Amino acid sequence: GAPVEVDVATIEPGKISTVEWRGKPVWILHRSDAMLAGLAKHDALLADPASTAPQQPPYAANPARAIRPPFFVAIGICTHLGCVPVFRPEAGAADLGADWPGGFYCPCHGSKFDLAGRVFKNVPAPRNLEVPEYTYLSDTRLLIG
Ligand code: FES
Repeated sequence: GAPVEVDVATIEPGKISTVEWRGKPVWILHRSDAMLAGLAKHDALLADPASTAPQQPPYAANPARAIRPPFFVAIGICTHLGCVPVFRPEAGAADLGADWPGGFYCPCHGSKFDLAGRVFKNVPAPRNLEVPEYTYLSDTRLLIG
């Protein structure tokens, strides 16, 4: 499939945009400063907080899992059986638990991922959400693929 270009300047902090690439949903989440700061606070809940698993580009192996930390780019497909997780940014959501830091919840079998797509321990999904190949053509022009 052809690469997809996105102007990330149109995505407000805290908001997520979805584009289609190779028939798959790709998310671009503009993380606020508070969201970014929160990423460092719940490593103990995560199965692979440093993203050491090999199925990803090298720029996804940092705590923000991104080339530019505010913008989280990921394939929006659960690594368990392929459902589309739901964006649930609100920390401590009543149905997800007091320790919920905000992230993505898969309604099919209950897998949880944080705002960097890092999978929680003790859920069905075996690994962090996949980060696609992408690059920046300028400060705001993102090219996926
Ligand atoms: Fe997401 Fe099973 S497909 S938890």
